[in-house]
Amino acid sequence: MQAYTVYNQSGGQGKTTVARDLAAAHAEIGQRVLLIDMDAQNGSLSNYLGVDDNKRNPEADDLTFHLVEQGQGEFSDLIRTAEPNVDVLPSHKRLNRVDEFLDSHENYIGQTKPDDWEYPRYERLLSVLRDNDVPNEYDVVIIDPNAKADTVYYMALYATRNVVIPAVPTRSGYESIDGVADSAQGFAENQDINIGRTAVIPTMVDTRKGDHKDYAQKLRDEYDAPVYFKSLSAFESAEEQYVSVFRLFSEHRSRIRKSEQNILPKYRTLVATICATFGNPLAEDAWDGEEIFTGDDFWGTSKFHLQTLMSLMTQSIKPWG
Ligand SMILES: Nc1ncnc2c1ncn2[C@@H]1O[C@H](COP(=O)(O)OP(=O)(O)OP(=O)(O)O)[C@@H](O)[C@H]1O
Ligand SMILES: [Mg+2]
Repeated sequence: MQAYTVYNQSGGQGKTTVARDLAAAHAEIGQRVLLIDMDAQNGSLSNYLGVDDNKRNPEADDLTFHLVEQGQGEFSDLIRTAEPNVDVLPSHKRLNRVDEFLDSHENYIGQTKPDDWEYPRYERLLSVLRDNDVPNEYDVVIIDPNAKADTVYYMALYATRNVVIPAVPTRSGYESIDGVADSAQGFAENQDINIGRTAVIPTMVDTRKGDHKDYAQKLRDEYDAPVYFKSLSAFESAEEQYVSVFRLFSEHRSRIRKSEQNILPKYRTLVATICATFGNPLAEDAWDGEEIFTGDDFWGTSKFHLQTLMSLMTQSIKPWG
């Protein structure tokens, strides 16, 4: 199984959009995807995919309860199917109080433990996923936490060990990558684990802006970004329809505009890159001859066309075996 967290501590960098559409791209080639929405705020992934109806229901079971061994039902009953091969574990407002829940859980089970026992707070999500057979049920797990570097984010990092970083190509977006790397590395050292940077993705790129151009190319060169996404209305249209961009184009549009024609090919190239970094390069005919992104005038040749992908070094971490 491949698992990664889509993260940037700056808000509004396109994290949720990238998580949603990457899931659809994995699903298109038959991979079974579980999207875990760990953002209790509005406008989160389960909202984008129209499966957040229980978010504010105080009676509803949710992941928070399962993290502290107090699930009110089966874990599998929390999961909703949003699109073919794309399941979602929706978020709940309760997740805002996850520290409180973890503190009481710690006190409760600590009673029977020796004095030097340490509560494995950050392992809780990984344990829940393992206990519920997620590694066998899914090929890919993608987590979308909120933008804060809080307990939820560190649980996601602990469970996935890999981070995909979308960034708007501005000075602050560019500098945010170092911020993500620093916090992930500090956490990795503290927990004695390895965390891999799976991909950096320039998003909402306005190629008419000089600084966007410069920073997008810096991101490409410094972080081997395989693709970039322009600022285009299709992403908001998908949000409006509660679907991924893949489904937007297949079901809600009679034609794809010229400016939008690269969106799906870019997601396919991105998925091919991600699979390769996990040491699972895709076959060259993974997309039935459908188009992938091999570069354009602005980006130059994408380094990661399928042939080079076959030899790409494994740079992601595979704690799932
Ligand atoms: N490439 C793009 N072009 C244009 N609009 C985009 C693009 N990507 C995302 N958007 C839009 O920008 C807004 C913010 O995106 P998104 O919610 O994915 O960001 P986020 O990083 O998850 O934000 P938050 O920090 O609030 O969780 C959304 O309305 C989304 O539809
Ligand atoms: Mg978001």
